[in-house]
Amino acid sequence: MNIEELKKELKNEVGPKLYNHSIGTMEEAEKLAKVYNYDILKAKVAGLLHDCGKSRCGDNLTHAKKSADLAIIKYGIKDKEIIDAILYHTTGRVNMTLLEKIIYIADKIEPGRNYEGVEELRKIAYLDLNKALIMSLENTIDYVEKRNMELDMESVKALNYLKEER
Ligand SMILES: [Fe+2]
Ligand SMILES: [Fe+2]
Repeated sequence: MNIEELKKELKNEVGPKLYNHSIGTMEEAEKLAKVYNYDILKAKVAGLLHDCGKSRCGDNLTHAKKSADLAIIKYGIKDKEIIDAILYHTTGRVNMTLLEKIIYIADKIEPGRNYEGVEELRKIAYLDLNKALIMSLENTIDYVEKRNMELDMESVKALNYLKEER
């Protein structure tokens, strides 16, 4: 897994906006990995590629699956932890691995993100990863419910699991 080569490949695949978001997520994932003692290269690769299939599908809900598939087929990623982190980056799931948590949060707080509450979330992410996850899942569920969009049960289950764990 050569980061520079993966970056080049990704740059050819996606537009500048998504590319910048991917780099931002990669750098955020690297910082989180340092704080929470996770493999830095794996965190960077997962952050960089988490949305690699997004430009190929219009449906926002399926882009995680598409990205995981492309990471394997096009980018040659074989590491299951990386693939799972890509696969679950939009919904979360019960009993998430450390890398899944890092990527979920890195995606939400990377420097290009700008929404109400992001500053608070950025702070919490580096103090208490699980708490940041709970906050972020609650935000997402709230957002979806307010707009009468379809709620993903994986997110609800992930949230309940994290709360029970505390
Ligand atoms: Fe995504
Ligand atoms: Fe993303």
